[in-house]
Amino acid sequence: EKDGYASFMLKEIAEQPKAVADTLLGRIDGSGSLTLDEVRIPANVLREVDKVVIVACGTAFHAGLIAKYAIEHWTRIPCEVELASEFRYRDPILDQQTLVVAISQSGETMDTLMALRHAREQGAKVLAICNTNGSTIPRESDAVLYTHAGPEVAVASTKAFLTQLVACYLVALYLGQVRGTKWADEIRAVVRDLSSVSGAVDRVLGTMGPVRELARSLAAKDTVLFLGRHVGYPVALEGALKLKELAYMHAEGFAAGELKHGPIALIEDDLPVVVVVPSPRGRSVLHDKIVSNIQEIRARGARTIVIAEEGDEAVVPYADHLIRIPATPTLLQPLVATVPLQVFACELATARGNEVDQPRNLAKSVTVE
Ligand code: F6R
Repeated sequence: EKDGYASFMLKEIAEQPKAVADTLLGRIDGSGSLTLDEVRIPANVLREVDKVVIVACGTAFHAGLIAKYAIEHWTRIPCEVELASEFRYRDPILDQQTLVVAISQSGETMDTLMALRHAREQGAKVLAICNTNGSTIPRESDAVLYTHAGPEVAVASTKAFLTQLVACYLVALYLGQVRGTKWADEIRAVVRDLSSVSGAVDRVLGTMGPVRELARSLAAKDTVLFLGRHVGYPVALEGALKLKELAYMHAEGFAAGELKHGPIALIEDDLPVVVVVPSPRGRSVLHDKIVSNIQEIRARGARTIVIAEEGDEAVVPYADHLIRIPATPTLLQPLVATVPLQVFACELATARGNEVDQPRNLAKSVTVE
């Protein structure tokens, strides 16, 4: 039941710190090593993997886009991410050394299922990341890493997404561990950071009052744009998807570096643009580039809604609205940066009088093509 929340979606957004912690539970030992016993693909097979291919749909696809950064960084194995509905119609190149990762909350999405069947027919190993015990996708895969989000009732995916990210990080780190990459020290440090990240998600949730107010004030708008770079780009795509499906508004996510190649023509007076800013530590070059993007769009009239780390002062002069998130390592930032976008979409949809748990035309699991 809704436990006093106005919607299942709000309840599920609030459950995210626990969902994240539960998905990590029992998977990291006292020494900071990963113990993913359920990944029954033998270590020698994982050592031979020369390509990772992620297939998924919708929000799960966005988790896959973020996973690519983590997998390539920590394992140096090339990783492709593809919409499951596109993948199997283009004769993809797969063999015994390909690890296919199929991400699905429901475990019943027809496109994802057909993609993994196709991959197994070509001899690839398939690892499912799934939230529903005993569903079809994990049953048909070689191994499964379950996300422990608990049942997700609202049609729009929230807590499942955060746990998909956690599972993807675990897979990336585990592959790195099994293969003994030169990133071993960094991997240990990230495992420590992962253990404390549910606290950071909890802290973001505690600061959502101004985000709600902002969302309500934008209820009469027609369009909202979202910009990001690096792992912030899929976060921007996810923010736009949430707004489309819940608020029925035109919303689009762009890679900020693409602005000049077209999207900047869309900027007009008072157009809300949400910008996900990378950490000023870590990828400082990207940070500075995105700060210039914010200046550029603001000079053309955009109303800038900036999501930036606590302590990032460089964005302050250019932010019409500033949403703070706790500092996290670059690759983990999506776990905290997505939360305000979920709250934003939910509140804006509610202000427009929409039913957030059951958006029009959508079903919780898409079991047809
Ligand atoms: C968006 C949403 C959908 C699903 C997609 C995949 O909020 O819920 O985009 O993410 O239909 O579903 P699963 O993960 O069940 O395969």
